[in-house]
Amino acid sequence: MSKIFSTGIYESNHRVDELLKKDRDIILSYLEKIKSGKVILFRNEENIDFCNKLIRYFHSILACTFEKMVPITYKCENYVRFSHNDPRAIVPLYCDSVSFFPWNRDKMDLFSKYSKFYQLKNIFSGANQFRYIDANISENTTARIAAHFYPVGTGHLGCHLDPVGDHQEVTCTLLLSKPNPSNGYYLLNENNDKIYIEDKMQPGDFYIGSPIIPHGVDLIQGNYDPESLDGRWALLFPVNKTIENEKIGDSIKI
Ligand SMILES: [Fe+2]
Repeated sequence: MSKIFSTGIYESNHRVDELLKKDRDIILSYLEKIKSGKVILFRNEENIDFCNKLIRYFHSILACTFEKMVPITYKCENYVRFSHNDPRAIVPLYCDSVSFFPWNRDKMDLFSKYSKFYQLKNIFSGANQFRYIDANISENTTARIAAHFYPVGTGHLGCHLDPVGDHQEVTCTLLLSKPNPSNGYYLLNENNDKIYIEDKMQPGDFYIGSPIIPHGVDLIQGNYDPESLDGRWALLFPVNKTIENEKIGDSIKI
């Protein structure tokens, strides 16, 4: 898998829903920036009160749901995952997560609320703008909204690259909260320096970048408390392969 390096942040003048109404040339000019290593930042895509509401919602799911191994297939269940330094993981990580699929209903109607992010991704991929939004899979790939929690004291993710292709050209992240100090999530630049892009962001900010920039999450410093909500919370909007898909590879550890 080829890789590129971070060249910094470009702050969008438009909100995502405004950008979707622009000419394709303008939208695709953002993709060129992403391919040159820029992260595109959209400030205040969500308000902070709702970010906190989402954190409480995800935390309540994590607190009262047992982990279940659910292969990704059409109409599979939503699931919870406790990835606690499992030696079988391709990329080392400690992260609690909740995954939502478009065919399942949930209390916060996440897919209706955030379909705009998938519309943007689909345009970047040259696909139908509304792919996945009709709650179907497409060529053995599906949208999956993932809430990620990196707890203070234990949360981390090894440096890696993610697969890129027709299913997704970009990765999308809505930052819900960040630890203090915030140097958790990083990208590598051409000197292999870690660039902590979330230092310049606030909860509610949304950003898009290339999956093939090496990236990871440094250990979130502090004392671990299994009941605490403290740490890095983010909502991700990936497109993933179903279990039947043999074309798309896995993430690669750097
Ligand atoms: Fe990743």
